[in-house]
Order: sequence, then structure tokens, then C-alpha cells
Amino acid sequence: MSDAAYLLVHEDREYLLRPGEEFGTDLGVIEVPEDAAHGDTVETHLGTVFEVRRLRGPDLFDHLERTGAPMMPRDIGLVIGHTGIGGGDRVLDAGTGTGILSAYLGRLGASVTTYERDAEFAEVARENMAIAGVTDHVDVRTGDFAEEVESLVVEADPFDVLTLDTGDAPAVVAHAPDLLVPGGYVAVYSPFIEGTRAAVEAAREAGLVEVETFETIQREMDFSSRGSRPSTAGVGHTGYLVFARAP
Ligand SMILES: C[S@@+](CC[C@H](N)C(=O)[O-])C[C@H]1O[C@@H](n2cnc3c(N)ncnc32)[C@H](O)[C@@H]1O
Repeated sequence: MSDAAYLLVHEDREYLLRPGEEFGTDLGVIEVPEDAAHGDTVETHLGTVFEVRRLRGPDLFDHLERTGAPMMPRDIGLVIGHTGIGGGDRVLDAGTGTGILSAYLGRLGASVTTYERDAEFAEVARENMAIAGVTDHVDVRTGDFAEEVESLVVEADPFDVLTLDTGDAPAVVAHAPDLLVPGGYVAVYSPFIEGTRAAVEAAREAGLVEVETFETIQREMDFSSRGSRPSTAGVGHTGYLVFARAP
């Protein structure tokens, strides 16, 4: 049985709860079953019915405890789309932060080794991976990846993809050819153009090929009685993604 959390949903309320947990709400006390299935219902002691849902990626983004700023689903989509990460792939990631990218990739069936230099953040990320039900797929290691990468020996078992979301990512990119299978990808996320340019230059200097940079611009559409138009609210710029391949 997985230790993964459930989402309990009633109208516009949703609570992320662990199996066996007892949780008090103004609608009554919920006793979370040890082993519920997607779509089951649970009644509070006052008779309000909650539906049990399995957590999906966007639920993790909304509900996991946050430490390092999580990558947004639209950028995660770009990473998956451009690198083709899928089940069975070996992914090396830094920094873990909240662990949203790692959890999404673990849910895809990739095997993720992720480094977080802040020990408290790493502990929260381990708990987040348990809530997401991906502990079999995501190994959270405490350590400074820029230092650890110097001694990482991967000759026998190189990685398919290297994902970097740290300020010092450009320095790590130099190691990418030694870490990746031929044709493997590195993806560097950076909120600023300076870090992005540094990552591009590092990728070129390292002899990586197919170096490309993208920004995702996403506009939500509003449909109201007054008319239809792009939403005037929402997040604008998130970051840039540099992709490159090992020759
Ligand atoms: C922006 S967050 C990463 C968010 C993550 N991609 C996610 O989707 O949740 C950056 C994290 O990297 C960590 N970090 C920064 N430099 C690092 C390094 N050299 N080695 C390991 N972790 C590092 C920070 O402590 C922070 O938690």
C-alpha cells in the first residue's frame, strides 16, 4: 500500500490528507481510510460527503509544502516536451527545492536523482515525495550539486537527462558531456536572461549540440457575458529554458 496522500473534495473545498489521518473541519471530522481508491467517498461524522481523489501533478503544485520556488506546470511541460522524458529514463536534477519537477517526472515513471543543498529543504522534499507517492522513483540527496558533480562517477550508467534549476547551473553544464548518454539532454531553467546567456555559453563551450532557448508565454482566456478575451490577471514571465544535447 502506498503512503501517498489523497485529496478529499467537497464542492469548492479540497484537503490533502494522509491515509489514517483524522482531520477536523466545520463540516465535521473526516477519518481518512488507510486504503481508499480514486472516486470512493468518505463521510464526516456530521454526514458531509467528500470524494477521494488521487493527487495529480497540478494538485501537487497547489498543495505540497513549498521551499524553493517550484517550477510551474507550463515550464515542466516544456521540459518534458523538449527532452521527451518518459518511463525508465534516468534523470539527474538540481536543486530539488519543493520537488515539483521531480514529482512530475517520478509520476511519469522516470527514475530521478535530485540534489538539494539546504538540509531542511531536502527533508521537506522527501516528505513531499512521500505525499506524491513517488518515493520509489525519486531519490532526494542532501548536498551541493556543484560540488558533488566533481566526484560523480557515472561512466557505467550515464543519465538520459540533466535538469538544472539553480543559480550556479552554468558551472555545472560544463560536466554535462560526462554525465549524459550520447544524445541525452540538459535542460537549464533560469528566471533571468543573464543566467540564461551564461548557460548557453557554457553549453557551447562544453561541446553540447542543438543548443536552444525558449520562454513559455501562456495566456488564460476569460469567457464572460461581456465578451471573450485573454485574462487580465495571472502570472506573466516565469523563466527561460535552455536545452542542449550531448553529442
Ligand atoms: C528554484 S528551486 C528549485 C525548484 C524545483 N525545480 C521545483 O520544481 O520544485 C532551487 C533550489 O535549488 C537549491 N540549490 C541552489 N543551488 C544548489 C546547488 N548548488 N546544489 C543543490 N541545490 C541547490 C536551492 O536551495 C533551492 O531549494
